Amino acid sequence: MTSPTAPEREPEIVLEPMRATHLADVLALGRRVYDTSVKPYTSWSLSAVARHMDGEASACWVALAGDRLAGYVLGSMGFDQRTDWGNLEWIASAPEYQGKGIASRLVKACCATLTEAGASAVVTDVESRNTASAALMRSNGFEATVSVTLFVRRSEP
Ligand SMILES: CC(C)(COP(=O)(O)OP(=O)(O)OC[C@H]1O[C@@H](n2cnc3c(N)ncnc32)[C@H](O)[C@@H]1OP(=O)(O)O)[C@@H](O)C(=O)NCCC(=O)NCCS
Repeated sequence: MTSPTAPEREPEIVLEPMRATHLADVLALGRRVYDTSVKPYTSWSLSAVARHMDGEASACWVALAGDRLAGYVLGSMGFDQRTDWGNLEWIASAPEYQGKGIASRLVKACCATLTEAGASAVVTDVESRNTASAALMRSNGFEATVSVTLFVRRSEP
């Protein structure tokens, strides 16, 4: 009789501060989950990531399943001219890890870092059709305030 193969155990998901060694995986996951051909995702780039990592009170975290990137969040102090607001700008969970509470853990970690750095509020913007992101933010204490609609006037050919 052959011995049954032990089922593989899912590695525990661990949150860590984002480091330069995570950058390639973070960029690649962003390209998988954002449609970078449309606003507000057109600005997804290495410099967008680096701006938060280099920013005052960087609040950038990764969620790791062993050595695999399961998710990330990018935030830092300052939003428009408000230096006392924190900005949680980018967040993603890898599709195979979605629905497990990873993004909620990342939001909490990012907000805790920003609050500790003195943020009087944390601001994030959510594209109007992104119901998953809106549900994530609402369930973590964010309330919808002002909406901004991008109007586009196309040039005649
Ligand atoms: C939005 C996103 C980050 C959520 O990640 P996730 O790890 O699956 O989220 P969680 O499992 O932590 O869920 C958090 C909450 O959001 C809700 N939620 C998540 N996905 C949802 C969906 N598709 N529809 C409705 N609610 C959803 C969950 O039910 C949960 O609510 P609860 O706390 O009341 O139970 C993920 O869908 C994603 O990466 N999307 C693509 C990238 C993106 O659009 N990022 C946001 C813009 S930068």
